[in-house]
Amino acid sequence: MTNIAIFASGGGSNAEKIIEYFKDSERIKVSLVVSNKPGAGVLTIAAAHGIPTQIIDRQMFYESETILDVLEKHHVSFVVLAGFLWLVPGYLVRAFSGKIVNIHPALLPKYGGKGMYGANVHAAVKAAGETQSGITIHLVNEHYDEGDIIFQATCPLETNDTAAEIGRKVLQLEHRHFPEIIEQVIQAHINAR
Ligand code: GRF
Repeated sequence: MTNIAIFASGGGSNAEKIIEYFKDSERIKVSLVVSNKPGAGVLTIAAAHGIPTQIIDRQMFYESETILDVLEKHHVSFVVLAGFLWLVPGYLVRAFSGKIVNIHPALLPKYGGKGMYGANVHAAVKAAGETQSGITIHLVNEHYDEGDIIFQATCPLETNDTAAEIGRKVLQLEHRHFPEIIEQVIQAHINAR
């Protein structure tokens, strides 16, 4: 069994799709949800599915490696960032080398990096007059949004699309593709053993 930990800071709609996607899987399951935001919607979603949760704060995450013990306790071998707004510290990147994936709501390398998340991204895409946007799923390294790109999907934009409308189109792509890409990456690791 491959156990996944999902790290998220917000509402958790991607986390919910991932949890549902693997609900009946014999090989892969979401065994922990980690959040830096007490009260985040993702924690309610986890609880509704009977999935353990772990809250982190900056001191724990950046000045200790306690999270590694928590991940070990839940036999986690793969980490998924689904709307997690903090930079992943080096010790965690190294402990899960090649096994942390992130989804970014734009076509990297454009519209990425520190501060480029959520509505900020879609506002920048609109301001630039882009005719398409999309999603990027990538491996995570020690810099925001710079790991190897695994998958991208695009959606056409209309000139009168608001940033919110762009966000809705992009979120649909996230929900459609993220669970399947996670499964493919994990399966590739299993096959490579
Ligand atoms: C998504 O737009 C994702 O691309 C970004 O954070 C957002 C998470 O949304 N990384 P949700 O919390 O999964 O609804």
